[in-house]
Amino acid sequence: MAETTIDSPRKTRLVFCTSRPSRYAAVLNTLRQTFAIVLTDSGPTASDAIETAPEVVIIEDQLVGGDGTWLAQQARMVRKGKSGTIIMVGPKETSAIGRLLEERVVDAAITGNLSPGEFLERFWRIYGTRSEDEHVIAISKPAARVMNTNRKLFTRLEDMVAEGGIDREGRKAVTAAADSVVDLAGDPSVAPMLHQLRGHHDSTFAHSLRVGILMASFGRAIGVPDDQLRLMAETGLLHDLGKMKIPLSILAKPGKLTEEERGEMNLHPVFGAQLVNDGYRDLPDLIAAVRHHHEKLDGSGYPDGQTRGQIHEMSLCTAVVDVFSALTDRRDYKPAMARDQAFSIMDSMVGRHLEPRLYRRFRDLVIDTRLADEPKR
Ligand SMILES: [Fe+2]
Ligand SMILES: [Fe+2]
Repeated sequence: MAETTIDSPRKTRLVFCTSRPSRYAAVLNTLRQTFAIVLTDSGPTASDAIETAPEVVIIEDQLVGGDGTWLAQQARMVRKGKSGTIIMVGPKETSAIGRLLEERVVDAAITGNLSPGEFLERFWRIYGTRSEDEHVIAISKPAARVMNTNRKLFTRLEDMVAEGGIDREGRKAVTAAADSVVDLAGDPSVAPMLHQLRGHHDSTFAHSLRVGILMASFGRAIGVPDDQLRLMAETGLLHDLGKMKIPLSILAKPGKLTEEERGEMNLHPVFGAQLVNDGYRDLPDLIAAVRHHHEKLDGSGYPDGQTRGQIHEMSLCTAVVDVFSALTDRRDYKPAMARDQAFSIMDSMVGRHLEPRLYRRFRDLVIDTRLADEPKR
């Protein structure tokens, strides 16, 4: 028996072949926000659905009535010469899956006993990377180069975090990425790229790169000298580095965080500042900006409850850009908010949370230059 659900035809089409749809119920609920999903088992309906050349095909390896190998091969045949993503899923990585990956019949596999949050994190990494790269290359080559430099940087940052922090060598990688971001900040391709980076896949990467680019653009607009522009880009790239120390079960949790989880999440600026400490001893501004990007003027922020007059200018600046980016980012649990709506919320945060002068300059910049607007299609 096959259950077929067809959502809005305007969404990207995804075919999910599984004999156990209840196992993926939470995952499917989230994916429905982005994709028009055809859910099917291994019968002829699966074959028919794959024949329609959907952009994404997910196939469970063990289907009732046979393994998913032949469906994967069919999906590859249909895809020949076209872009798209084919993913195999299963409880463990079998030799059959290994062969499909080796022969490039499938693009990736998601295996293991995963929570919905972990499954989605892996999915967005695979799907996000592929679709994002194709889209960005279509917009502009310089933008694609910056995206690549920074994606490599973020992979390296993960290793550096595992090893305890950013050292002098690591700093060189960050500097190179920040320079590419500063260059891009003067490039007209930046707005559509920022829009693209609103994707919820790879969420900390996309968010950090967006904050880095917006910081550099902001700095450029207010006449900050070049070396300071790089510092602003570095701050944006690194401000949420401490999130790499927060468990995925909290970071990618679809619902509301418990008080305990919120407490742990709120440690990310402290972790971040510790992690950048070794590489940036000579740049206390950067360490301060990372540690204090969630402080508020009225003292209700964290981690130190600093108030107006105590909070470093670079932290105040990061806070404005960070809040804007967080509101207008798209995440697993929320769609992207329109620019004007984000500003009407931010208007109400001025004075208590955000520094008025910096906020107004940033808002004017985004509105005047149409930075972060959706590109015309
Ligand atoms: Fe943060
Ligand atoms: Fe952030």
